[in-house]
Amino acid sequence: MSERETWTSRIGFIFAAVGSAVGLGNIWSFPFQTAANGGAAFLVVYLLAVFLIGFPTMMAEFVIGRRGEQNPVASFKNIGYGNWSFAGGLGVFSSLVTLSFYSVVGGWVLSYIVGSATGAYFGDAGAYFGSIASGPTAIAAHAVFMLVTIGIVASGVTDGIERATTFMIPAILVLLVGLAAWATTLEGATAGYAFYLSPDFGVIADNFWSIVPPAMGQAFFTLSLGFSVMIAYSSYLGRDDSLPADGGAIVVVNTLVALLAGFVVFPILFATGGAGGAGGGAGTAFVALAGAFGNLPAGGIIGFVFFAVLLFAALSSSISLLEVPVSYISENYGYSRATTAVAMGATIALVGVPATFGTSWLGFYNDVVFKLLLPVAVLLIAVFVGWVADTEAVDELGRGSTFGESFTTAWLWWVRVVVPFAVIVTLYLGVTALYEGLNTGAYF
Ligand code: PHE
Repeated sequence: MSERETWTSRIGFIFAAVGSAVGLGNIWSFPFQTAANGGAAFLVVYLLAVFLIGFPTMMAEFVIGRRGEQNPVASFKNIGYGNWSFAGGLGVFSSLVTLSFYSVVGGWVLSYIVGSATGAYFGDAGAYFGSIASGPTAIAAHAVFMLVTIGIVASGVTDGIERATTFMIPAILVLLVGLAAWATTLEGATAGYAFYLSPDFGVIADNFWSIVPPAMGQAFFTLSLGFSVMIAYSSYLGRDDSLPADGGAIVVVNTLVALLAGFVVFPILFATGGAGGAGGGAGTAFVALAGAFGNLPAGGIIGFVFFAVLLFAALSSSISLLEVPVSYISENYGYSRATTAVAMGATIALVGVPATFGTSWLGFYNDVVFKLLLPVAVLLIAVFVGWVADTEAVDELGRGSTFGESFTTAWLWWVRVVVPFAVIVTLYLGVTALYEGLNTGAYF
């Protein structure tokens, strides 16, 4: 077997992991989930979920990957618990399903970049969305997006993923800061900031149980947890850096990007008529924002930059989603990375085709991942790290870390008790909602 690749530097790993974390979830869903769930009230619960549940879970995945030094399935075996490989396998499956529809949305972003250049959506954003979101245009754009993803993953961990994200992450940060600065000049921006930033604790109290599942789902999704992505990426570490420090940096940058996206989106929406209509999910988000761009001076340029940022974010995530099955298949069956990337990419693209028929399939895929697959995978990882491979986990977290034993012990107990408890509650609420949705014909 050829020698396994490793990241060329610590910052290379951090950029790649930030690239996976920063995605459509931060720039597109986060602002709109916030709008749909009461603004700042959602923000508070979401931030708690990210730091209290997401961050410890990320270290749990890192511990498995760095110790296992193999793809997410074989890593469990390598640590000595082959009968837990299915937990990694579940992440492989979730990555596959998620990429299939993530790429469809990536295709929409491509169409909006074209639309910003040609002005096609300026007059009637709703009609434009209708014309690109399903049917042949959607299939073609989905295929292009997937081809680019395949190209990067086929080029390898360092020459493909690390190189692409080292370019894309700084670009995303600089452009977003620029957009947020520009947004401060908009008339009506203040109302946008107010909606976004003043939490109404009454709203939190009244809606707590309905805010928890989307906030937790969003926290896992945005940090790429439960997909075996962080297991795969940390398996290329080959070095003893501090996992808590790296994880902390990744979580903080990812959160900053989401917050920044809010500082771009809310002023724009409020400058052109408020957040109304923006909370209705996938399509309305594209329509509301694009409509706003159409009504602003120089909106075409702003739209172009915004959708370019969104494209970089989507690509730096989609490559991590493809990397998971590719690393598994190529290592397990001995095929070359390039061949596997093409074959897996093509298969996943086909699985995604139904999501180009209309947004209800997309919503269904999305809900199955958010409400079922993600929490189950995170629960398995917490139980595995906390109760099964706890000795190995504690030892691994300590390697290269300066945080000391009390930090590691606190982390272990947190992963043993608090994380599973929070996830079980989320799972219960999510599965009930999913079941209800299926019964009431919310999807099909
Ligand atoms: N974290 C990415 C986002 O916020 C999505 C993602 C999930 C990417 C899981 C990889 C794995 O858009």
